[in-house]
Amino acid sequence: MSLQTELLVSLDKKVSEIVDRHEKITNKRLWMPTELIFGREINTSIPPEITAMLVLNLLTEDGLPYFTSLLTEHLGESSALRDWTRRWTAEEDRHGTAIKRYLHVSLQPEQVIAVERLQFQYLRAGFNPDWGRDPLKLIAYVVLQEYATQVSHHRIAERAKNHCKVLAQMLWQIGAEERQHHQVYLAFFKHLLQCEPDACLVAFLSVLKSFAMPGEEISEFAEFSRLQATAGVFGPRQFARIVSAVCDTLGLATLTDLNASGREAQEKIMKLVKVIERAAQRPLHQGPFSFSFLQEPFSLNEQK
Ligand SMILES: [Fe+2]
Ligand SMILES: [Fe+2]
Repeated sequence: MSLQTELLVSLDKKVSEIVDRHEKITNKRLWMPTELIFGREINTSIPPEITAMLVLNLLTEDGLPYFTSLLTEHLGESSALRDWTRRWTAEEDRHGTAIKRYLHVSLQPEQVIAVERLQFQYLRAGFNPDWGRDPLKLIAYVVLQEYATQVSHHRIAERAKNHCKVLAQMLWQIGAEERQHHQVYLAFFKHLLQCEPDACLVAFLSVLKSFAMPGEEISEFAEFSRLQATAGVFGPRQFARIVSAVCDTLGLATLTDLNASGREAQEKIMKLVKVIERAAQRPLHQGPFSFSFLQEPFSLNEQK
């Protein structure tokens, strides 16, 4: 058993407490995907940019089998974390199902087929981040990724609210749960940081250096990313804010009693945060945008 895996196992009790707290919150309103759509009035002509952004978020949700397998592979013997993996999987599965149901109702069959081709391509390529077998890196990544997913769902909801209330409500519900997931992983990481600050800083630095949302393997990923960034849904600006908020919440800049590797990682993280903030100021490439599942290229309307 690696040192990090031993560390996770030793945190079993803490993990159980965090997960119990999470379940109490989410069980209060444990929605099911069909409830969010069935019998409700759905606008079948939402703007193309909303459809396209929704498709990217669906693909991100579809990455779940890879996350589940990575988690079980990385988290080894810890029974509380394995239990959490099952709860998390069950919750996440509803997100992709809800978005899929919505797209099935709002798109033409040939468009749905084009989306299904992308799903196939995405799942076939898999998700292979360069984390070795380091559970600390995995948890650090998911802290950032869940936050990014929440921001993305909520900002699409904001754009969708004037076109389809059902869609906006659905994305608010999903985003709220992503927020809860972020809180769970943040709580895990906080406890790990208390036990092994140096190893956690090294892991966080490594994830920050190469952070990418799942999905970069698909052929239209660059176009999806350009669209979400230009629309202010998720891009370098939102990422910079997320990174800075997570570093502040974890107090990474002010950690003391570190060894040489911890101090070095801490300094590099702080420098990298500045680089990410500067990169976020670069101008974004505007449209038009073009996707295989939409008949025509489109430009963004003014709403941000
Ligand atoms: Fe999700
Ligand atoms: Fe999530």
